[in-house]
Amino acid sequence: MENLSLKVNGEHIETTINPATTLKKFLSAHLGLTGTKEGCGEGLCGGCTVRADGKAVKSCIILALQMNGKSIQTIEGLAQGEELDPVQEAFLDHGAFQCGYCTPGMIMASRSFLDENPAPSEKEVRHALSGNLCRCTGYNKIVKAVLSVEPKKETAAK
Ligand code: FES
Ligand code: FES
Repeated sequence: MENLSLKVNGEHIETTINPATTLKKFLSAHLGLTGTKEGCGEGLCGGCTVRADGKAVKSCIILALQMNGKSIQTIEGLAQGEELDPVQEAFLDHGAFQCGYCTPGMIMASRSFLDENPAPSEKEVRHALSGNLCRCTGYNKIVKAVLSVEPKKETAAK
């Protein structure tokens, strides 16, 4: 077992962990944060995307120990109390999901992307989300949702 010290959704956590534990497993099995979805388990589908110090990462192929000292944000930590993040609002407004399995990863990847590029083109959105697969929507509503997030609302970016 190894020591692990990190923040998850703003909460400081000190624990010991099997060094082979992935970040995805740590979040779900150890912390009960099941909103992050695992699809392929091989870094290909993006379903498990969370943010580490603001950057989108695929939690199925990262060891929890690699996150020592970092600040992790999952879909559970994106809203501010009752106030949804603008990306979450946009997905709702545009009906940008069907089964919803890809949605947490899509939203976390979109949030990170928009923090770096608040006024992207459609091409840039499609490129940014190319590592996040959706079996249901055909992507158009997802892309429209991301494009609809207004830059001026990004001052609350986390
Ligand atoms: S489950 Fe992590 S990328 Fe597919
Ligand atoms: S909404 Fe079903 S996989 Fe994307």
